[in-house]
Amino acid sequence: MRTKMMRVNAKKPSEQTIEAAAQLIREGRLVAFPTETVYGLGANAFDAKAVRKVFRAKRRPADDPLIVHVASVEMLEHVVARLSKRAKTLMRKFWPGPLTIILPKGSRIPKTVTAGLPNVAVRMPAHPVALALIEKAGVPIAAPSANLFGMPSPTTAHHVLHDLHGRIPLILDAGQTKMGIESTVLSLIGKPTVLRPGGVPFERLRKSIPNVRMHGFVGGTHSLAPGMLARHYVPRTRLVLVLPPNASAKIDNLLHAFRHKRVGILCLTQHAHQYHRSDIIVKRLGRSAREAAHNLFAALRLLDSKGLDVIIAEGPSQAGLGLAVMNRLRKAASRTL
Ligand code: TXA
Ligand code: MG
Repeated sequence: MRTKMMRVNAKKPSEQTIEAAAQLIREGRLVAFPTETVYGLGANAFDAKAVRKVFRAKRRPADDPLIVHVASVEMLEHVVARLSKRAKTLMRKFWPGPLTIILPKGSRIPKTVTAGLPNVAVRMPAHPVALALIEKAGVPIAAPSANLFGMPSPTTAHHVLHDLHGRIPLILDAGQTKMGIESTVLSLIGKPTVLRPGGVPFERLRKSIPNVRMHGFVGGTHSLAPGMLARHYVPRTRLVLVLPPNASAKIDNLLHAFRHKRVGILCLTQHAHQYHRSDIIVKRLGRSAREAAHNLFAALRLLDSKGLDVIIAEGPSQAGLGLAVMNRLRKAASRTL
């Protein structure tokens, strides 16, 4: 299959381009499109056959459920069985935006989408291209991140092309995504629980739901979110994650131990000057957790393409978006110090 890439203005997408993409969705085919978090690989969420193509294209196991993206709250009526008062309040506050909410599934959503679960994940993305595409298609769009299973999520159309070239018909290219890290996944089935930290910081959610808790996402697979593996976003190059305290001393020791190896370092910009060996590649993530989130996946992909023996990553603080960044780094790491 030939993969076509179409440029589209991120703020004011051309109607013609959106119509071409929407038509593919209506025909049961796949379109990769930008959201404010990462690029998604979309299919008509009502069409089980189309959704199966998503799993095939990504080589994603069928037990890892997809998020259904909507462009309006009216559209949700066909996706979820019930909307609680709490869900409505959260939607008013955080949508469109990087919050995915898990609710009881409506009957029109095929089981393929939810991997057989009785609940469905829903979100309204804050990106004009994504919203226009869903609206024009006239159906909700089921979309995981548009990477090959296990690879870092794509934050540019070129990342999507790299992974899915020849496997999907169309990529809408609106440049680099703003947030860079995926949405926060919040389950409202039973006690409100964050299953995946993401674009909406836990501290902000807690202001709206004081009793929200964080699921133990570091560790093995768990029953609430079957797709959430302990290791994920795995670069081919071995990655060692270094945590405080004494991160820079630990990194110095590692650099000594790896002195005959090709080494890449992933660190905050303000720490980059500490690692001045001329033969190591230092990739700066930015000065804040927000910048680190924006740059993380592109930096991982870049270092992974350099033929290195090892990547050393410095973990940022876990406050705000730092928690989501750290969660992704933990999943990418083969060793944590
Ligand atoms: O920002 C995002 O969330 C991006 C963009 C494209 O919207 N999407 C994304 O999708 O990251 P994906 O499939 O890569 O990650 C969604 C995660 C899955 O790993 C899955 O475990 C969880 O959400 N999930 C989806 N539906 C669920 C359900 N019914 N119950 C529990 N967890 C679910
Ligand atoms: Mg993903």
